[in-house]
Order: sequence, then C-alpha cells, then structure tokens
Amino acid sequence: MGKYLVEGDRITVVDSQPPQSNAHQSVNMVAHTQKTALITGACGGLGRATAERFLQEGANVVVCDVNDTLISDFKEKVSAAYPECTLVLKIDVTDDKALDKLFEEAEKMFGHIDFVVNNCGVMDHFDPVGDMSREMWDRVIAINLTAPAMVTKRAVTMMLKHETKGSIVNIASIAGIRGFASGKFPVPLTERRFF
Ligand SMILES: NC(=O)c1ccc[n+]([C@@H]2O[C@H](COP(=O)([O-])OP(=O)(O)OC[C@H]3O[C@@H](n4cnc5c(N)ncnc54)[C@H](O)[C@@H]3O)[C@@H](O)[C@H]2O)c1
Repeated sequence: MGKYLVEGDRITVVDSQPPQSNAHQSVNMVAHTQKTALITGACGGLGRATAERFLQEGANVVVCDVNDTLISDFKEKVSAAYPECTLVLKIDVTDDKALDKLFEEAEKMFGHIDFVVNNCGVMDHFDPVGDMSREMWDRVIAINLTAPAMVTKRAVTMMLKHETKGSIVNIASIAGIRGFASGKFPVPLTERRFF
C-alpha cells in the first residue's frame, strides 16, 4: 500500500508502491484465495490501493479505468507483480456495452465475482449550484449514480447465476451525507451486503 496525504476531507494516494508479490503470502493470503474482486476506476488513487489490498489478501482483481496513462502504470507496477491474478480493461463505466464486456471478460478469466467496489467517481469542481452546467450535472449523475447501479445490476445477476455470496461496496463521500453546495451527493455513504 502507498502513502496518503490527508487534506481536510480529501485523501490522496501520494506514493503508491508496487506490491510485493510474494511478501503478502505469509499473512493474509488465505483470506481471499479463490475470490475475485471487481473494482471500477481502479488504476489510480483509492481504487488502486483497494486492488492492491485485495491482491495482498490472495484475491484476483478485475479493474477498469478510462485513463490510458494510469492503465499503463497499473499494468507495469501492479499486474506485473500478479500476472495471473489481474485483469485490466479500458472501460468507460457509463457505457452499457463496455460494462457487458467487463463482466464477460471477468467471468471468462476468473469464473465468477465475489466482491464489487464501485469506486469510480468524479468531482464537479464544487462550483456553486447556481453556476453548475447541465453538462456537468449529466456527467456526475452518469458516472457517480447510474454507473454504480448498472455495475451492481450485472454483479447481482452474476452472483445469483453462480450462487456466490458476495459483497458490493459503493464508495461515496462525506458530501453524500452532509450538505454541500455540490459534490457526490447522489450515492449515499453505504455498504450493502447481498444474501
Ligand atoms: N480521495 C478522497 O479523499 C475522496 C473523498 C471523498 C470521496 N472519494 C471517492 O472515492 C473514490 C475514489 O477517489 P480517488 O480520490 O481515488 O479518485 P481518483 O480520481 O484518483 O480515481 C478515480 C478513477 O476513476 C477513473 N474514471 C473516471 N471516470 C471514469 C469512467 N467514466 N469510467 C471508468 N473509470 C473512470 C479515473 O480515471 C480515476 O482513475 C471516488 O468515488 C471519489 O468520489 C474520495
């Protein structure tokens, strides 16, 4: 895991270290062996840290992102350490067809999914609500609200198909429970367990 910079409510990953592929095996390897975690927007920031932690605990990870630089960096620093446990795809979470592909590829490679972390999210620059553009509103709703719902729909369907007892975690923000002029309010700060 890397180092974190905490500024007010915001946490930034400032020093993401490549995971040690064999160092983890002694401690928690057993915890998630044979399990698969799908994490959205996971080639940078908190998503990557989450993916690394799952790998350290013995799980396979399926990650998607849209940022080519971050995808390459993830492949170089994380996938290279766990070549058989990682599937990295360039997927825009607002694209339904791309999400279908994400789940198809995940099923093909790992058989099923046990955990989903709806991590992907964007900021709206905290513009005052009166200055917010329609374009910004649509983008935030598409990525922060609709996409987690569409990922969850597919994940639940796959979990039911494989009779997997899974967990789905939606990453939100303090802005989801406290009044802000703007921010990630659509997704409540919540964890839901199914089954
Ligand atoms: N960092 C914080 O302190 C903080 C605070 C509150 C909430 N959060 C939430 O935690 C989550 C992760 O935050 P972070 O700081 O690591 O953010 P980040 O910007 O580092 O990571 C988000 C990732 O999502 C990817 N992404 C953006 N749009 C995408 C799309 N359409 N399809 C696929 N991937 C896409 C980005 O390329 C990026 O890698 C977000 O949901 C964020 O809102 C973070």
